Amino acid sequence: MEKLYLTDYDSLPERTGQVFHIGQEEIVLFRLSNGEVKAIENKSPHPKGGTLSGGLVSGEYVYCPLYDWKISLNDGMVQAPDSGQVKIFPIEITSGQVFMIYQ
Ligand code: FES
Repeated sequence: MEKLYLTDYDSLPERTGQVFHIGQEEIVLFRLSNGEVKAIENKSPHPKGGTLSGGLVSGEYVYCPLYDWKISLNDGMVQAPDSGQVKIFPIEITSGQVFMIYQ
C-alpha cells in the first residue's frame, strides 16, 4: 500500500471540489460539512456528463452540476432513479495532511 500526499487538510474549503491530477486520473476532493474528506473520479457517469468538481455537496452526496444526478461520496453509486457508478479513492488524514491510498 502506498500513500500519496495531496494537500493540507486546512487548505480544503468546505463543500467545494478541489481537483488533482494524478498520472492519468483526474480526481476531486470534497471536504464534507462533517469534516470527512472524500475523493472521487472527476467525471460524471452520465453519458453526456462533464466533471463533478462543480457539483453541489449536501451531506455525503454530490449533485452533478449538469443533470442533477445524485452520487454517493461513500461508494460512488448513483442514486435512483438514475444509475451508474463513479470511481472512489481511499483517503487518509494524518497530522493535518491529506493522502490518497493506493493498493
Ligand atoms: S453530467 Fe453528470 S450525472 Fe451529470
